Amino acid sequence: MKDTAPVHVKDQSAVEDGHAGVRGRNTRTPTLRLLLTLALSGLILGLASCGKGDHADADGSSTSTSTSRPRPAEPIVAATPPMGWNSWNQVRCHDLDEAVVKQAADALVRRGLKDLGYRYVVVDDCWQAPSRDSAGALVADPIRFPSGLESLVDYVHDKGLKFGLYLAPGSETCAMHWDDYAASGIGSYRHERQDAEMLDELGVDYLKYDWCRADETDGLEHQKTFGLMRDELARLDRPIVYSISEYGDTKPWTWAPKVANLWRTTSDIIPFWPSVASIIDQQAELHSFSGPGRWNDPDMLQVGNGPLTPDETRAHIGMWAMLAAPLMIGTDLDKLTPDVIDALSNPEIIAIDQDPAGRQASRLRSGETEVWARSLADGDMAVALLNKGDGPAEISTTITEVGAQPGSWSIRNASTRKDLPATDGPISETVAPHGVTVLRLSS
Ligand code: GAL
Repeated sequence: MKDTAPVHVKDQSAVEDGHAGVRGRNTRTPTLRLLLTLALSGLILGLASCGKGDHADADGSSTSTSTSRPRPAEPIVAATPPMGWNSWNQVRCHDLDEAVVKQAADALVRRGLKDLGYRYVVVDDCWQAPSRDSAGALVADPIRFPSGLESLVDYVHDKGLKFGLYLAPGSETCAMHWDDYAASGIGSYRHERQDAEMLDELGVDYLKYDWCRADETDGLEHQKTFGLMRDELARLDRPIVYSISEYGDTKPWTWAPKVANLWRTTSDIIPFWPSVASIIDQQAELHSFSGPGRWNDPDMLQVGNGPLTPDETRAHIGMWAMLAAPLMIGTDLDKLTPDVIDALSNPEIIAIDQDPAGRQASRLRSGETEVWARSLADGDMAVALLNKGDGPAEISTTITEVGAQPGSWSIRNASTRKDLPATDGPISETVAPHGVTVLRLSS
């Protein structure tokens, strides 16, 4: 396992990316660990109290008008929605190996995606050898990962990227059930501390903790179980983005802001427009629950996969940006068509996704054509005109409907990166079938 030398490099990049914490295994004395635990618990509890009227700004300060104690000036983990690549939608179990992961890391850099914010390289399910070792430790599958995870983590870090890994809280991972992955005992049940410490020792920056069927297989309860791993992560010297997944089954937005940095809100996305449209629909009432450090996760991107058209591709990414959703690519980055790389690389759409205020859009009008809006940190407004229908549609709204102050607003079409005439009232665009036009309004 790694020791202290490379950790200094990791520490620096973590600080630059806005992660909190003191790191390095040489600092792990019991007293210091206790202090760190208290500090991190305070941060999580502080985040948890950030409901309406006590909103955490991206710099960790609070705009609360109450007389509560000043919050420590620690940066928030996942202050903006995480962006990156995850292996699952590209290769599931069948083609996962270290070459695929390295290829993705290389491509993120080469295609300029890293510089646009796509930083996390997450290895999903099926990285594990079929069983734990004699000390109960998880081991990477030696056939898929002959160089070992340590060297893969180093490879990713050396490119200035962050590394993520998949675990599951029960005794099974999902692939054991759904993908016939032949293994046993590779879930984290009764190994939570050991597995969390493994993440620390490897230098992992992001944990995807996926429920699978832990209630059925092990009689576990969601909040308690996800809370247990939160506590184990809080003990560590290393800030780790904590992404949990239980498919929206227990309405995690009502409890997970106290537990995790992001939580899945739906079952798995598939690369067909009806799945994308249905997931968008399911986000309409969730905007009040998310914010810096605590994001609704409508699942990973499917762009580049299946029969999504260019308009559907732009609508998928554009709406994920409106929803302040994580942007995790799950396709072969060496085979992107021009429309997919263009949509993934649109800096104006990414800027909306990553807006530091972190206010998820609300739906103002629903039906075959929809209007969604969110306000941005600099006072601008982002407005999405979404056409779920099968033919082109003229979608109209007004300055008043989107909640902007009366007056003249300049309009930028962020989807096409073109200026439109200013307005003090009506806004109207023709939107392609299964398409979205994302507008940025500035006063
Ligand atoms: C599912 C999860 C997917 C993927 C898969 C791995 O439950 O929603 O995103 O992680 O498990 O087996």
